[in-house]
Amino acid sequence: MAERGKIITIDGPSGSGKSTISRRLAARLHYTYLDTGAMYRAVGLLVNRSGIDLDDEADIQKILEGMDLQLLPGDGDTRVILDREDVSSAIRTAEMGMVASRVSALPVVRKKLTELQRTLGLRGAVVAEGRDTGTVVFPEAELKFYLDASPEERARRRSAQLREQGHDVDEKEILAQIKKRDKDDSARSLAPLKAAENAVIIDSSVMTIEEVVNFMLDQLDKK
Ligand code: DC
Repeated sequence: MAERGKIITIDGPSGSGKSTISRRLAARLHYTYLDTGAMYRAVGLLVNRSGIDLDDEADIQKILEGMDLQLLPGDGDTRVILDREDVSSAIRTAEMGMVASRVSALPVVRKKLTELQRTLGLRGAVVAEGRDTGTVVFPEAELKFYLDASPEERARRRSAQLREQGHDVDEKEILAQIKKRDKDDSARSLAPLKAAENAVIIDSSVMTIEEVVNFMLDQLDKK
């Protein structure tokens, strides 16, 4: 088993099963789960609510300086506290995913959140999940994974999840959103979504969550 204090990164597109898998891996290892997507979503919410134009980097920088963002990982989704308000539900909408994707392309936002993530990673024993945790945030991580699945499979999973929560779902619309977000996240010049050179690439289309987690634990054992 890996020593305590290591950093493991899991990157990949939305709907690849990253969050569930990262949470379970962290629980099995007694590591802290770091949901970096939740941080981009919280900033998206903050910018959205403030009404600041996305081109206005100077004003965005100002609100980022005053932002108090706390992550409380637990058994389920990480609870996110933004300026003392619990925004955990508000950030987990499809709309906020798109807004997060847009603000995440801004250099001021990436700089601020990368710094925060590195601070949170200082103690080690972290499973970090996102788009650039292996390539940019923690290039020295002990072990890096890139989790993928076909867009159709990811749309199917996301739709099932939303239906379970009681939402009306248009799967074609979800597929279109997933493809757009993949394109935007991969095409941006700053910290684009891509596998780190030394990442272990896993296609989760044909694996269960448990199989992926066990495979990851095996990879750790081999280190
Ligand atoms: O993983 P998620 O769906 O919660 O992420 C929301 C958006 O945040 C995603 O579309 C791109 C951005 N993001 C990012 O740019 N870098 C990260 N490390 C995590 C998320």
